[in-house]
Amino acid sequence: MQADERTQWVPAAVSTDILDGTVVPAALPTGPIAVWRTASGELHANGDRCPHRGMRLSHGFVRGNSLSCIYHGWRYGRDGGCEHIPAHPGLEPPKSINCGPLPVAEANGVVWVAAQAPEEAPAEIEGFEALKSMLFCATPAAIAEAAGGALKTELGGTPAHLVTAERTPSETFVVALVPTGTDVASKLAAATALEALRRVTESAT
Ligand code: FES
Repeated sequence: MQADERTQWVPAAVSTDILDGTVVPAALPTGPIAVWRTASGELHANGDRCPHRGMRLSHGFVRGNSLSCIYHGWRYGRDGGCEHIPAHPGLEPPKSINCGPLPVAEANGVVWVAAQAPEEAPAEIEGFEALKSMLFCATPAAIAEAAGGALKTELGGTPAHLVTAERTPSETFVVALVPTGTDVASKLAAATALEALRRVTESAT
């Protein structure tokens, strides 16, 4: 990954898919990440690897303002620092134990994460909100081609923007944005069209 790519916002999840007090797996080009919300709804992201023995932190659980590893229960705070080691309850964990907090932001109902702090907030597409995310086994260029030549398109008759992030050379994470206030029937039609677009794109590659 180039240095300037490290400071680019990458779409990682749909905001509403991460409920308060939960953690989900996601990915950056640099590798797997865990995205989680505190019980009060504050959003955080960090590497998806416990510094103890490498268990995925996205398999863990959130209590209050902390994320705990499912394996031996090491507990990490909002700054990524280890707060508590159940096997050594009297020990203050060394500051060097840290699961690597990442810059995170929300725009258009999308969770954006970067490997290093970008200078600006994620660019907002005015008047649009996230509908649904999907993983395509295709490149962003192939998706744009199948969508009619651009990522600004329509889905089931509804105007749409496709926000993409290449996760591997053959896999792209896609979030479909539709106009804010789109009615339920149109959202359902757009979601169905997104699935159809995935099938068409994948069959062409
Ligand atoms: S691997 Fe996470 S606490 Fe042991």
